[in-house]
Amino acid sequence: MLFKQQALLRQKLFVLGSLAIGSLLYLVARVGSLDRLQPLCPIDGRFGPRGQDEIPLRALQFKRGLLHEFRKGNATKEQIRLHNLVQQLPKAIIIGVRKGGTRALLEMLNLHPAVVKASQEIHFFDNDENYAKGIEWYRKKMPFSYPHQITIEKSPAYFITEEVPERIYKMNSSIKLLIIVREPTTRAISDYTQVLEGKERKNKTYYKFEKLAIDPNTCEVNTKYKAVRTSIYTKHLERWLKYFPIEQFHIVDGDRLITEPLPELQLVEKFLNLPPRISQYNLYFNATRGFYCLRFNIVFNKCLAGSKGRIHPEVDTSVITKLRKFFHPFNQKFYQITGRTFSWP
Ligand code: A3P
Repeated sequence: MLFKQQALLRQKLFVLGSLAIGSLLYLVARVGSLDRLQPLCPIDGRFGPRGQDEIPLRALQFKRGLLHEFRKGNATKEQIRLHNLVQQLPKAIIIGVRKGGTRALLEMLNLHPAVVKASQEIHFFDNDENYAKGIEWYRKKMPFSYPHQITIEKSPAYFITEEVPERIYKMNSSIKLLIIVREPTTRAISDYTQVLEGKERKNKTYYKFEKLAIDPNTCEVNTKYKAVRTSIYTKHLERWLKYFPIEQFHIVDGDRLITEPLPELQLVEKFLNLPPRISQYNLYFNATRGFYCLRFNIVFNKCLAGSKGRIHPEVDTSVITKLRKFFHPFNQKFYQITGRTFSWP
């Protein structure tokens, strides 16, 4: 008898325990999503025509769940049709600059419920072989999204590749173009560090940065070195301006995106005519990484991969001074054209 009562009691405790755990899990998930779903300020009609300015709450669930599966190619045709999902050409492209913080910018923008990122760099416009496959090939590389969402892709090689502005213009002459820049010398060193790491991985030796950046014959800055050339932002931008007016570009301060990402992201939301949805809650500083990481909700957080935020090698100060002096006039021109001034030396 006593044994039977004990078994009954155990059973009741088990049911109660399961209920408590279930409720707790529900609350955790709910609080997380609610936090993201509450509009922080009213949508003031900048998002699109009436009726299209609300992001269905489903969108978020899709971004974390089904949509993710669909992106991996696990969706059936029926599911895609049922959920009205489409693969859309990008409405905005992060065209560069390499090592400017392009991945961080894309991932952070993807926190916005109306933005769906193309995870991989597609290299459609800068790679002749890909470009020859045609625009449908490009569209099919895009993630699934709802029609009112916008797709964003990033391929930093676009900024410096000659043919790209004309090719993008032919696809969509009113597309929005995002350029994230960092202090040019730091960017060049970051660029070098990435290549150096690649060489080291293959057990190869590589020149010192100083040797590549300075021409040993003239002792002047070596403008043939790609890492230097890429940092002459104004030269590249001028090529783009033959096709697009300056209003179609938004310049992101990559140095500020590292230390204070939210205001930079808010400027991008504005530029893309999106309601402000990314908040401080979505970004938390991770002291171990030394960078801001992303918080989707109470459960899902993520930091960028370890290949972002490498330790740079020490560079001779006289070389840094020489490079900064070299970039100075180009920087002034860049400020003048873009209307955005940076405190670069
Ligand atoms: P370093 O590796 O030189 O520090 P890209 O994505 O265009 O290759 O840019 C890489 C740079 O993004 C990194 O350069 C890093 O400084 C910067 N970055 C900006 N925000 C970051 C973040 N939240 N986490 C990691 N790296 C970030």
